[in-house]
Amino acid sequence: MMQPLTASHADHRGERTKRLYLSPPHMSGKEQEFIRQAFDSNYIALLGPMVEAFEHELAEELEVPHVLSTASGTAAIHLALRCLDIRPGDEVWASTLTFIGSVAPIVYERARPVFIDANAGTWTLDPDLLSEALASAAKTNGRLPKAIVPTDLYGQSCDLDAIVEISAKYGIPVICDSAEAMGTTYRGRKAGSGALMATYSFNGNKVITTSGGGALTSADEKLIQRARYLSTQAREPVVHYEHLEVGYNYRMSNILAAIGIAQLRVLADRVARRQQIFQHYVDGLGDLPGITFMPEASYGRHSRWLSVLIVDAAQFGADSEAIRQALEVHNIESRPVWKPMHRQPVFSGARTIGGAVADSLYAQGLCLPSGSGMTQSDQDRVIEVVRSLGALSLRRRPSMNEGRALNDHP
Ligand SMILES: Cc1ncc(COP(=O)(O)O)c(C=O)c1O
Repeated sequence: MMQPLTASHADHRGERTKRLYLSPPHMSGKEQEFIRQAFDSNYIALLGPMVEAFEHELAEELEVPHVLSTASGTAAIHLALRCLDIRPGDEVWASTLTFIGSVAPIVYERARPVFIDANAGTWTLDPDLLSEALASAAKTNGRLPKAIVPTDLYGQSCDLDAIVEISAKYGIPVICDSAEAMGTTYRGRKAGSGALMATYSFNGNKVITTSGGGALTSADEKLIQRARYLSTQAREPVVHYEHLEVGYNYRMSNILAAIGIAQLRVLADRVARRQQIFQHYVDGLGDLPGITFMPEASYGRHSRWLSVLIVDAAQFGADSEAIRQALEVHNIESRPVWKPMHRQPVFSGARTIGGAVADSLYAQGLCLPSGSGMTQSDQDRVIEVVRSLGALSLRRRPSMNEGRALNDHP
């Protein structure tokens, strides 16, 4: 008989040392029921009733009229750019503090990414910087971007209304990358709502997952129709396979949509749990000198997809990398804040507007395990390791006068 595959690092180590992942999938228990229904109907191929139902339920959740489910969040962004007819050489301005999936599709179209720094208070695209840069571009050479792609970061919405208002002055469309923001709110609306198009990811590490998958939304039906057409190989509606242009195989499969339906039903619980986890980190670590947390912008509710802290090494006595390594020794996964796009070798030639804020968040930021399935005692393991470093640093930190003595006699 076939042995079940397991990826558990815990098998030979016991509960205490089981690996704690950053943000593993968290199933509701109902997924297999929907998958079974999909199997029973034999809709194993790409499209089928689960896809339709998932898109319908997602539209209700996100309070948008039109939704296309896709193979990934990256595919959704690519389709959005195609819908806007982004051409080789066009500029697309995007957040520098993001994951590469947000901006890789700009390069797929041979367009040119320009990176914009984050605002220190929200960590998302700085609207003031955008406003100044657009005004100066309009004044000097008139070269304006064809689209703007701000990212909602770690569960915090960007200041979308401000970004849309500034961009609208120049007639520039906004695609909001809300991959990390399922369950996030912005001015009482769902994250992404208010952009011409918004994109979401259901990758395995997100608040809810379809294992891999994404979605593109818009209030404009024509845009979603166009994206739907492009996502199914730009196939003309005739019985033989007729193509007037080249598209993609970017649809979500019926089986994965079945998982998505079950996951959507627990979204509110998952977000509430992530927010609780964040609060427990604040309670457990917030008193340590040099430790602060990602702020929550006043305009919305942060889903706390990931709990992120900032380490001031001078005050804490150890830097974020030392904490990451100490956690790793205890079989706990943590990750630096996204390395900004303007620091990525692949984008070395790209223009950047600002960048110092993203640089410093990258240097000091650490994402802690945040999965909604983790227990309080899992979390206490993390807190214990970080606190032990802090305590060590407190003991070791020399005062101005005793520095030499401590260094000489460790
Ligand atoms: C900000 C951001 N944009 C885009 C993506 C791409 O989504 P996917 O992995 O579903 O392609 C992700 C995550 O994976 C992301 O975090």
